[in-house]
Amino acid sequence: MLHVQALIPVALSTLFRISAYLFLQVIPSPILAIVLPIAFSAWIIALWMLPSPSERKEESDGKAHPTRTATVAPFHYHSFGRLIEAQVYVESEDIVLNILLSLPSSSRRVRWVTNAINIALFLAAAEFLCTPFLDSASDIIFTRVGAVYPDNVKIVARYPPIDDITQSIRIIWREAPKSGAQEISWHDGPLFNFDENRDWVDVVRIKGLWPNSHYEYSLATTNGTLLPYPSTPIKFHTFPDPRLPSGNKFSFLVSSCMTTNFPYLPFQGRRIKGYDLLSNLLYPKDSAYNSTTDTDVAASKTLTKERSMLPEFLLFLGDFIYADVPIYTGSTLEDYRRLYRRNYQSSSFRKIYERLPIFHAYDDHEIINNYAGDGDDLKPPFPNASDAFEIYNANPNYDSIHESHYYYDFRYGDSAFFVMDTRRYRSSATDDLSARVMLGDAQLAAFYNWLSRANDTAVFKFVVTSVPFTTLWGHDAATDSWAGFPAERTSLLQAMHSVPNVIILSGDRHEFAAIEYNHDSLHTVREFSTSPLSMFYIPLYRTLKMQGAEVVTRIKHRLNMTNEGPEYITVEEQIPAENVFKYIPSGNYKWSTIDVDTTDLEMPVLRLKLTVDGKTAYSYTLNGTPIKLHTSTALGVFVSTGIKDMFNKIGIHPSKWF
Ligand SMILES: *[C@@H]1O[C@H](CO)[C@@H](O)[C@H](O)[C@H]1NC(C)=O
Ligand SMILES: *[C@@H]1O[C@H](CO)[C@@H](O)[C@H](O)[C@H]1NC(C)=O
Ligand SMILES: *[C@@H]1O[C@H](CO)[C@@H](O)[C@H](O)[C@H]1NC(C)=O
Ligand SMILES: *[C@@H]1O[C@H](CO)[C@@H](O)[C@H](O)[C@H]1NC(C)=O
Ligand SMILES: *[C@@H]1O[C@H](CO)[C@@H](O)[C@H](O)[C@H]1NC(C)=O
Repeated sequence: MLHVQALIPVALSTLFRISAYLFLQVIPSPILAIVLPIAFSAWIIALWMLPSPSERKEESDGKAHPTRTATVAPFHYHSFGRLIEAQVYVESEDIVLNILLSLPSSSRRVRWVTNAINIALFLAAAEFLCTPFLDSASDIIFTRVGAVYPDNVKIVARYPPIDDITQSIRIIWREAPKSGAQEISWHDGPLFNFDENRDWVDVVRIKGLWPNSHYEYSLATTNGTLLPYPSTPIKFHTFPDPRLPSGNKFSFLVSSCMTTNFPYLPFQGRRIKGYDLLSNLLYPKDSAYNSTTDTDVAASKTLTKERSMLPEFLLFLGDFIYADVPIYTGSTLEDYRRLYRRNYQSSSFRKIYERLPIFHAYDDHEIINNYAGDGDDLKPPFPNASDAFEIYNANPNYDSIHESHYYYDFRYGDSAFFVMDTRRYRSSATDDLSARVMLGDAQLAAFYNWLSRANDTAVFKFVVTSVPFTTLWGHDAATDSWAGFPAERTSLLQAMHSVPNVIILSGDRHEFAAIEYNHDSLHTVREFSTSPLSMFYIPLYRTLKMQGAEVVTRIKHRLNMTNEGPEYITVEEQIPAENVFKYIPSGNYKWSTIDVDTTDLEMPVLRLKLTVDGKTAYSYTLNGTPIKLHTSTALGVFVSTGIKDMFNKIGIHPSKWF
């Protein structure tokens, strides 16, 4: 039986290597996280219990360098003999193949390399698995801009006590100095209240700002001494006054799903490559970003031009931490908070969050896979998971219209956004499908209210949902996405069809898809689902159907040439109600850039550009339906600030006069 036994370490080693490759480069699956240590231990035990055949031979005839014949000899009489003989032959001819297949070898050096590869792979997997537990990032200091309004912004910062001394820290802010202009003095902003109960994180508001204006802020002690961090002031741009009828031209980014160091590289535990790619594209030269030190007028002009094309914010649609991938790190407050700190510690992510406001939604992996809250805020592990999400990502978001909830809406000029919470109120998957709800009563009412307000006060309406709205994705999306909530989904879609220019933005599937929802007579709704920003995608296995079974009938008027001359005829056209018009599944690093241009109200335009692995993979232009806007008192009053915005547009800067 010697030969069969000799194959056991070969098989175990190969199983281990394939699992390690899949785990570190393709998908960091929890199943592989279990298979890996088992396969590795079994391989070690097998090696230890079964001395390799060549060693037996070595021992028996005492030769340091056994010949090929000697190696093959013990197997000759067996039915597997030919196979083994072939392998040993391969060994002597092709060392690389021998090492790759971990075949038994007579060469000590080859055996050593084979074993070293497995040990290195095991250590790599261990590093990848253990870093989230070991790297606590407890000293991390950071600040970023959260919600941006026309007249105020939310600023979040974390400043744990340095040398155990807590000090009062305040914001100082000013208008961003223009090149060549003299130094503008700082205004004292609000004081932070850093508290261990909130993991030394706090959110404050800078109020009394002008709309559509550039500012910068820094952090200082109460006596006005600048703190070492941030080393250069953080810049931000207030949103335009939504009451101005002039239209807007701006862009923003949308994506979801990120984790550190995947696909894995050794000793890169803090890297999030998707953000490295993004910052290289947005801010190609660090110098182009430091406008304060820039005195060259020509350079500053190109800078302003570049800046006007830069995105105004990033919408991040959840799976910001992977609390349970590859393995669940635990359900305590500290377990969840540590994962957020680790992300903010990443210098890849820092290059983005210090320059770009980020508005967050969460999804299941901020809590646990495919979480459904049933509206029960005490259902574990929701309380601890939501505490960490709230501190790091939700408090800096726009306020919800219902206090201490996570759904919210906001506006950028004449574009309106509603960001849903698809986890806290959703019914469990075990319930009867027709009775399942995703949003819960209060959120559903808030959504309908927002939709009808936005109907004629906003040109584009962005409905933001972490999980896809389409029913076309299979696998677990059939119950975890909107497909598993058919009754609620149908009524939402019906309402959205009645509103022109509705765009659904989603993430979650680690693929990109563009879907249109057609109606017999009402408006077409479109969905763009973009992910992952920096995480795995699944090669080869595809679960998206290209269209749904349901069809709608469109009446079209066509010109027909008859003998009596041209005449209009009506043609009925059957088209799918739900139709995928672009599908790009591959790519570890994806985001969509959405350009909105409503400066010509007769022809509002939306352009989408999908970037995959740093390259433009798809572009799409949508000519929106023209809208006659009604200004609404619900938008808040910015009349006086609106005047300044008008002055700014014609190049007069009233701040110089005040
Ligand atoms: C301000 O306070 C810091 C410590 O908080 C101290 O080092 C510095 O000397 C003080 N500066 C002035 C001008 O009082
Ligand atoms: C720009 O700022 C970065 C740090 O944010 C600094 O390393 C770099 O030297 C600055 N470049 C210029 C030209 O000032
Ligand atoms: C939540 O965190 C607290 C404090 O860390 C801990 O005592 C509690 O057991 C955690 N709850 C769960 C369900 O793990
Ligand atoms: C939007 O406006 C149209 C036209 O006034 C109306 O028919 C439709 O019901 C409105 N939709 C919603 C959701 O308010
Ligand atoms: C278009 O006109 C031709 C005669 O020129 C006629 O035979 C045909 O049926 C018409 N098509 C439709 C769809 O009415």
